[in-house]
Amino acid sequence: MQRFIKTFKDYEQFYKESIENPESFWESIAKEFYWRENWEKVLEWEFHTPNVQWFVNGKCNLSENCLDRHLENKANQIALIWESNDPKVASKIMTYQELYVQVCKFSNVLKSLGIKKGDRICIYMPMSLEVVIAMLACTRIGAIHSVVFAGFSAASLADRINDAECSLLITADGFHRGEKYISLKSIADDASYICPSIQKTIVLKHSNTEISWKSSKDLWWHELMQNVSENCQPEPMDSEDPLFILYTSGSTGKPKGVLHTTGGYMVYVGYTFKNVFQYEEGDIFWCTADVGWITGHSYLVYGPLLNGATTVLFEGIPTYPDHGRFWDVIDKHKVNILYTAPTAIRALEQFGNEIFKTKDLSSLKVLGTVGEPINEDAWQWYYENVGKKRCPITDTWWQTETGGILIAPIPGVTPLKPAFATLPLPGIQPVLLDEKGNEIHGNDVEGNLCIKFPWPSMARTVYRNHERFKQTYFSTYPNYYFTGDGAKRDKEGYYRIIGRVDDVINVSGHRIGTGELEDVINMHSAVVESAVVGYPHDIKGQGIYAFVVCVGPVDEEALVREIQTLIIEKIGVFSKLDKLQVVKGLPKTRSGKIMRRILRKIAEGDTTNLGDTSTLLDPSIVDLIKTEAK
Ligand code: WTA
Repeated sequence: MQRFIKTFKDYEQFYKESIENPESFWESIAKEFYWRENWEKVLEWEFHTPNVQWFVNGKCNLSENCLDRHLENKANQIALIWESNDPKVASKIMTYQELYVQVCKFSNVLKSLGIKKGDRICIYMPMSLEVVIAMLACTRIGAIHSVVFAGFSAASLADRINDAECSLLITADGFHRGEKYISLKSIADDASYICPSIQKTIVLKHSNTEISWKSSKDLWWHELMQNVSENCQPEPMDSEDPLFILYTSGSTGKPKGVLHTTGGYMVYVGYTFKNVFQYEEGDIFWCTADVGWITGHSYLVYGPLLNGATTVLFEGIPTYPDHGRFWDVIDKHKVNILYTAPTAIRALEQFGNEIFKTKDLSSLKVLGTVGEPINEDAWQWYYENVGKKRCPITDTWWQTETGGILIAPIPGVTPLKPAFATLPLPGIQPVLLDEKGNEIHGNDVEGNLCIKFPWPSMARTVYRNHERFKQTYFSTYPNYYFTGDGAKRDKEGYYRIIGRVDDVINVSGHRIGTGELEDVINMHSAVVESAVVGYPHDIKGQGIYAFVVCVGPVDEEALVREIQTLIIEKIGVFSKLDKLQVVKGLPKTRSGKIMRRILRKIAEGDTTNLGDTSTLLDPSIVDLIKTEAK
């Protein structure tokens, strides 16, 4: 690959080149992909509207680049390895040739149902070979996929389907996650009942369990696949044609449908996968994220397949049937590169190191982490026990909106520093801004992390709501992309991500909008108002703490139970509260704004250092909340 980083000198040279001449830099990388028609211009942009276009008027197809391009040399190489939740169930593999055939067939199935370029398709599936087939088939015919994590409730699924007006839902009968069984089809049915746009539902037989069936709408995956052609020409897509929508939580309102487009996403994700994981031919790559999140999209599916790699899909959880499962999977499939989240690392660290005596992790070469700040202790544990001090750790910082990794060390190249995402990748121009929007120059500083120049895989809009896109990311600091994160730049110019500076909390790597949770809590008939904040949690990174004002006296135990049920129903089990405190009132300013800063301090257990409370309407409220804190 062009401009593949092998030494620190390479990194410095490519970085310089990418800043001084971004267009020629990205053009040289884009040329390695397969384009039906070349672009007329590499980049057009302004951050005011904002309007960003890469590889303008170029035509390409992502599925063709993930599959057809590899058939000449790699037809028989394994593309996917599927590992069941249950270790006794045999793993499955699929070669590039087999995957190609399945994707072509499923593309023809979609076409036979009348799906056309630009149609939205909702994918609500377990971690299976078929979820990858479904995603690739969408991109092959130019349909826009919206993958919804299979842990979301029917209400959340319905919100997402309705927002994008999806005409087709692809799901499965059900699946097991650890000890739990999730009856996906019945959740999908509940959602689809309130989704008028859904014409048909394709159901994969996965767990072989009894399900209810609606003959006018439901279709079996395996029946549809019986008599379809194995040939399907990829749809030539404009570089800026929509590729997929992925919903993510922000500080206010409903989740946003972040929209990514075709050419830039492909080039950036392909390039960063190869470099950030130092992928070499034949490596087995395992990303433990679910396909329902951006990490699953970019570095479980598209990044590896664009590079002709072998990628592992794991259906289960790190602690089932026991806490050795991750290490067993690594040993069994001889995984070379492991990409996981700090939460999983911390959860496994609790069990101690005895387990490693019986596990062979010698295949590992590179370790990655993503999704939340990794504390030094977890970093060291990962480095010493999993990587045996041999494997560099790449701490990758990025977001749903960035499409790909923006700040990360190149393993074996960038000198590491625990808990630091270190340096920006080529093409990425991060800056730290102060509250007034001035760039903070020099090192040993801290501020709000923004990016001042476009990169190919950045989100282009919020689906059907460009104004919201502008407001959320380009208005706080005009002419900058604002990430919502705070960061430090240390003496050496290394970045350390501190965490969100907005009202988003990060629980086990899941982004949760506090506003969204408050909306659900406020639905309870006894609740007048509520405020949700995050607080440090040993395993999950952040826990969820809700302060709730009620009408009259309440039975607290029943209240907690009912609110948790509401949250599970409306969002999903991963958003359950860790603590709930009934309070007489919330600390508000005279203009009625809740002072979350104070609530955060109380939730953290830091009640002596609450800062200035003089602007509060009723400062005595704070003392009351403090004394009853959980
Ligand atoms: C956080 C996940 C510290 C950050 C790819 C960001 C991180 C949010 C890191 C995006 C990291 C992600 N160190 N924090 N290496 N990676 N984050 O959209 O707050 O699910 O804004 O994308 O996760 O979460 P998202």
